[in-house]
Amino acid sequence: MIQVVKNLLFLASGRGSNFKSFVDHIRLGILKAVAVKILVSNRVNAPVLEIARIADIATKELVGTSGRSFVSKEEREKARLDFDKQCLELVHQFSIDYVLLAGFDQILSKSFVDSMPCRILNIHPAYDLRAFGGKNMVGSKVHDSVVRSEVRYSGCTVHFVANEIDQGPAILKERVAILPDDTAGSLEQRILAYEHLLYPQALQLLVDGRVFLSDDRTKCYVDRFSDNWDIEWWKRQEAYLRKIQFDTITLQEAQTS
Ligand code: GRF
Repeated sequence: MIQVVKNLLFLASGRGSNFKSFVDHIRLGILKAVAVKILVSNRVNAPVLEIARIADIATKELVGTSGRSFVSKEEREKARLDFDKQCLELVHQFSIDYVLLAGFDQILSKSFVDSMPCRILNIHPAYDLRAFGGKNMVGSKVHDSVVRSEVRYSGCTVHFVANEIDQGPAILKERVAILPDDTAGSLEQRILAYEHLLYPQALQLLVDGRVFLSDDRTKCYVDRFSDNWDIEWWKRQEAYLRKIQFDTITLQEAQTS
């Protein structure tokens, strides 16, 4: 079956490990029928830009709201709308099907979100997004709150972006157990490894037409299992796991030599 290739635009602000995972999944032929058209960063010199350049992917640095101070709320809102307007122009210019947030530290405006219903995806490093998602739940704050709470597991969630922060319909979730000696840092590292597997999988399910929304668009139903889809996916994703293992070994050898 020939699939129509879906065009992707990534929005990222930082180190870019999730973006790198997408690059690897595509290069290894695991994630199919997608093309990364451009990576946009709202932070000048964000490490993620270098990852894109090495992979020969177009980049654009757009001045956003993060890391800047504004004289008023109105000025901040104006800067946000300006950023989103430029992004939307890129969406049209590159005929973008899906926008993927990969460590993007800026809140998108309502007009941007509403102009791409169920076409913007995000990954959040928690399992329960009601308890550990929302406006101030970013970076280590998420894991801090988790380890200080009574919960026994955390994880990660890939979801569609809606206007309520981190509360759009979830496509895929993964649980990660909290160990007795876990700190926010150790938990973050363990969850991140799962994020790198889960996010590309969620996108492939979407591209393969296996994600269905409820009529009110508040819930997703995902068909992961029919026609052995999941078995095929895990077989393909083994190549990524081998690559990660190889990268770790060569890094360790380089550090000890
Ligand atoms: C990840 O933990 C992701 O869940 C969150 O931001 C972090 C980004 O990390 N949205 P990276 O830039 O992909 O390494």
